[in-house]
Amino acid sequence: MTTVLTGITTTGTPHLGNYVGAIRPAIARSQDEAVNSYFFLADQHALIKCWEPERIEQSTREIAATWLACGLDPDKVVFYRQSDIPEIPELTWLLTCLTAKGLMNRAHAYKAAVEQNLSSGEKDPDKGITMGLYSYPILMAADILMFNADEVPVGKDQVQHLEMARDIAGRFNHHFGGHFTLPKAVVDDSVAVLPGTDGRKMSKSYNNTIPLWLPEKKLRKAIMKIKTNSLEPGQPKDPDDSALFALYQAFADEEQTQAMRQAFAEGIGWGEAKQKTFELINAQLAEPRQRYQQWMDNPAELAEVLQHGAAKARKYAGPFLQQLKHAMGIRPMA
Ligand code: TRP
Repeated sequence: MTTVLTGITTTGTPHLGNYVGAIRPAIARSQDEAVNSYFFLADQHALIKCWEPERIEQSTREIAATWLACGLDPDKVVFYRQSDIPEIPELTWLLTCLTAKGLMNRAHAYKAAVEQNLSSGEKDPDKGITMGLYSYPILMAADILMFNADEVPVGKDQVQHLEMARDIAGRFNHHFGGHFTLPKAVVDDSVAVLPGTDGRKMSKSYNNTIPLWLPEKKLRKAIMKIKTNSLEPGQPKDPDDSALFALYQAFADEEQTQAMRQAFAEGIGWGEAKQKTFELINAQLAEPRQRYQQWMDNPAELAEVLQHGAAKARKYAGPFLQQLKHAMGIRPMA
């Protein structure tokens, strides 16, 4: 069995790019019988960059409901909220005591924040930087090492965090015995990076996202607003230079993709291509959208699923943490 672990920071509202790039492939992988999956809502990571309590609460609900609506089976995987597992912050401290400060100094996110201070003429390089941001990679290492994950699917921006987790695990193993599996980052380049409505990568920071659960009419409207060039119907269009085509392709099978390619070559009008894209996406999201709404309308059920997941996670984390503490000398007195 391979243990695969995925964490999602709970600060935003899921959009089509999250669905295509992370949610859909992760759920597909979790259906593999040889995979033991852990999925968790990284709400303690959310605290690092978001001090809006309502937003964190809302995002946690939305993301939990999204994963369930998209087919995550909580009986097959371990699905939990990070903050329901007290063993994780406790492990974070054990790891903090072994982590070289110099290693954290080299973290991209921290360095970028320092860079930004300096380039804006700020005298204090650490202005506005919390210990949460600084120690972020240690909390992330604890998330991963707590369950001895073999693989962690991540975007390129997270690869360094995985290297740090391996580094920290290696140091623990060296001093206290081989307790931890060294986790591997898995970056899947075959998953399309979805462009947003302005053609750049779909991302909250560019404000060009299409939320995953827009009601039908609003989804259509959002797709109609995608930026295109000024070619008229009848004029051939280049699919490989079109955000609309990329969006279509992300939801289409091979045959549909070929047909749309052909239609572009034959000069399909932008309005018609947009309508087809809307119909394709809407057909795939209609059912999950209903399930999403049901989960959102039943927070008590959502909570129960997550509590159940936390109990499963702690069954592993509890004894493992005792073993680690014992290895470090924190042992029963008698
Ligand atoms: N840092 C990850 C992100 O921003 C979220 C995350 C937190 C995570 N802990 C994790 C991802 C553990 C994988 C494993 O995307």
